[in-house]
Amino acid sequence: MSVLVTGGAGYIGSHMVHELIDRGETPLVVDNLSTGFRWAVPPEARLVVANAGDEERMAALMVSHRIEAVIHFAGSVVVPDSVRDPLSYYLNNTVNSRALLAAAVRGGVKHFIFSSTAAVYGIPGASPVYEDAPLAPISPYGTSKMMTETMLRDAAAAHDLRYVALRYFNVAGADPKGRTGQSTPDATHLIKVAVQAALGERDGLDIFGTDYDTPDGTCVRDYIHVADLVRAHSSALAHLRAGGASLTLNCGYGRGYSVRDVVASVKRVSAVDFPVRKIGRRPGDPPELVAGTRRILETLDWRPALDDLDTIVAHALDWERKLQARAA
Ligand code: UFG
Repeated sequence: MSVLVTGGAGYIGSHMVHELIDRGETPLVVDNLSTGFRWAVPPEARLVVANAGDEERMAALMVSHRIEAVIHFAGSVVVPDSVRDPLSYYLNNTVNSRALLAAAVRGGVKHFIFSSTAAVYGIPGASPVYEDAPLAPISPYGTSKMMTETMLRDAAAAHDLRYVALRYFNVAGADPKGRTGQSTPDATHLIKVAVQAALGERDGLDIFGTDYDTPDGTCVRDYIHVADLVRAHSSALAHLRAGGASLTLNCGYGRGYSVRDVVASVKRVSAVDFPVRKIGRRPGDPPELVAGTRRILETLDWRPALDDLDTIVAHALDWERKLQARAA
């Protein structure tokens, strides 16, 4: 019996594959390498280069590898791209997830863990935001993930399958052992961009909006270390294997940092005073997005271990230096 990880050559997926191997599992990775990297998959894991939305191929793999659980990371993640090209997002995130889910049902897979997002809440009316808040995504990205949550709920009601949908807040950092990290060269996420600015790969950092109704005028986010996030997946898998009920859970720490806090942390940890420009708001940014964490703490055997902004930044910096050295 083994675990199938889609998107296992990508940022979060590759951390999951290491985590599973560290725990003595033998994951099977499916990745089409559109944004992932072959080198990010450790040799202990088998990589099948395929589209997770190829239902026939996935159904065959579920049977031939006696797949017991699917952890589904594969998908497109750039919010503005989803606004420009919504149908690609609905294809890659929703239609392909439907096919994978159908293959899992056909293959008799009992457990499914899905990468959802805080983007399903849109601009929440309260902070922290809890799982029972209204779902009101404001981007096709958020809608594409919400639709998959709905399919999972309905498929689990109809078939012998249980799931955990994990709504990620702002995932950042890199493997503390330095084996993998965020490697997309044109990533747009704040900590990655700031770290690249600190290492001279960019000429500075633009702050998108300093006039929000937040303590320092910049947006507040709940940054979670990628290593804690993948451990939450392991706990979710243990929960399902123990017969636990299907769950939808926020994945964050329940505390927010502003863009200025992040910039200060990156400057502190790197000891580089890179240029920072204040520019206008980026459309679609909620002022504050912080996870309500009661449910995950009550239902999973999971506690944050790396809940410290400077630690997240230090690991992101270490990884960026590795990427630089590799490119040199
Ligand atoms: N930001 C900057 N400058 C940058 C990059 C980001 O000021 O160069 C700001 C953003 O405006 C935002 C904050 O930093 O206020 C965080 O931005 P990110 O792009 O790092 O992350 P988001 O909060 O936009 O994205 C996250 C997840 C998405 C999810 C989205 C929902 O990464 O998957 O929240 O709002 F869809």
